[in-house]
Amino acid sequence: MKEFSIVIAGGGSTFTPGIVMMMLDNLDRFPIRQLKLYDNDGERQGILGEALEILLKEQAPHINFSYTTDPEEAFTDVDFCMAHIRVGKYAMREQDEKIPLKHGVVGQETCGPGGIAYGMRSITGMMEIIDYMEKYSPDCWMLNYSNPAAIVAEACRRMRPNAKVLNICDMPVGTLRRMSQIINKKPEDLEVRYFGLNHFGWWTSVKDKEGHEYLSEIRDYVAENGYLTQVEVDTQHMDKSWQETHKKAKDLLAIDPRFLPNTYLKYYLYPDYEVQHSDCSYTRANEVMEGREKTVFTAAKKIIEKGTAENSGFTIDSHASFIVDLARAIAFNTHERMLMIVENNGAIANFDDDAMVEVPCIVGSDGPEPLTQGKIPAFEKGLMHQQVTVEKLVVEAYITGSYQTLWQALTLSKIIPSAEVAKNVLDDLIEANKDFWPELK
Ligand code: NAD
Ligand code: LMR
Repeated sequence: MKEFSIVIAGGGSTFTPGIVMMMLDNLDRFPIRQLKLYDNDGERQGILGEALEILLKEQAPHINFSYTTDPEEAFTDVDFCMAHIRVGKYAMREQDEKIPLKHGVVGQETCGPGGIAYGMRSITGMMEIIDYMEKYSPDCWMLNYSNPAAIVAEACRRMRPNAKVLNICDMPVGTLRRMSQIINKKPEDLEVRYFGLNHFGWWTSVKDKEGHEYLSEIRDYVAENGYLTQVEVDTQHMDKSWQETHKKAKDLLAIDPRFLPNTYLKYYLYPDYEVQHSDCSYTRANEVMEGREKTVFTAAKKIIEKGTAENSGFTIDSHASFIVDLARAIAFNTHERMLMIVENNGAIANFDDDAMVEVPCIVGSDGPEPLTQGKIPAFEKGLMHQQVTVEKLVVEAYITGSYQTLWQALTLSKIIPSAEVAKNVLDDLIEANKDFWPELK
């Protein structure tokens, strides 16, 4: 079997060790000859790089491993770039969450004003790494799961339409694992139908390979418990705040019991509840900094100190194996069925052709081929149209540098109550993001 060369962009990410461990666990399905980490923060990446170097020497010495901040070194001779960058890191995520809350508005990583602020930062970083990839390894594919994926995907469509970038999200994967737990099945034995935008969609069918439909069984469970399950099904999305989110799916289902909702819809459909249950001085960013970030970096430092990764605190991020499935689909033309973020072009029959939607696709060597999901009902279509227009306006504002357009984007967001609040939030976000956003006039 061919052996692949991979670069992880955002090498200093809290997800890097788990994803590297997951790839080592999948070497029989996806052999690797070379693995590089790339980040623009050498110090942060250096800690994980040094620890992973020790680990790889022990567990997979045949893999040529390196870490660098030099784009040419990183992106030369690579088949796949796995991208998980966070422009502005956790310090800026904290601002994205706390600034809107100060104005009584939901503060969330990818939804509403927080997501818009993050999107305006991510576009620059994403375009930069796409250009490095195209310059140094023109045949390389980027598997991107950097957030906010909806805005990033729209920016790719507008600004790099021919780039080999595949945008994918782990949230539907995580929720499907919960569903499989509810009906006592393996997630890989289930096939779904789904329509929506990223972090904004609905499952319309969950069947096994024999064609048995489980939607109503899962629905009965979710109506009582949300997606909260008894057993640990996910290595991610387990913290206290996430348990609340899984539970809240029950109230999302109540609004339209025909379909199973994506958990992120809670920020759009229950924003007042969300604000009431938020703490302006302690948000999800704080939870992650004190949790995952601390755990991962402490484990790395311990490995470096001991000079061995034996009994290290790094754990396999098995839920991220969808990334290997995606790479295999491209490399070996497996025609894997996966939810991807793609240009609609009729996949949702009564929705705009140029909207970036999330739908099941068959993925092979040429990339994803969307499966048609038919017509969608008025309620979901109306919500999606409002949200996709927000995402389009954000990218338009980034390209044109227009304050007016970005103000319109925030005003249109379902999460923000008025144009006045939108302006106040926007002005604070501009101030906080002056090192990252393009100048707006
Ligand atoms: P993190 O802050 O720990 O890591 C991000 C890294 O990206 C940092 O080391 C930072 O220095 C680097 N970076 C920032 N800008 C860069 C640039 N222009 N070029 C190169 N590197 C750059 O963040 P994290 O929590 O580990 O999340 C990383 C990303 O993965 C986020 O976008 C997050 O939303 C996304 N994410 C992915 C999944 C998934 O599907 N596995 C799940 C959740 C989140
Ligand atoms: C993360 O863990 O940072 C992401 O999965 C998103 C979130 O809010 O937890």
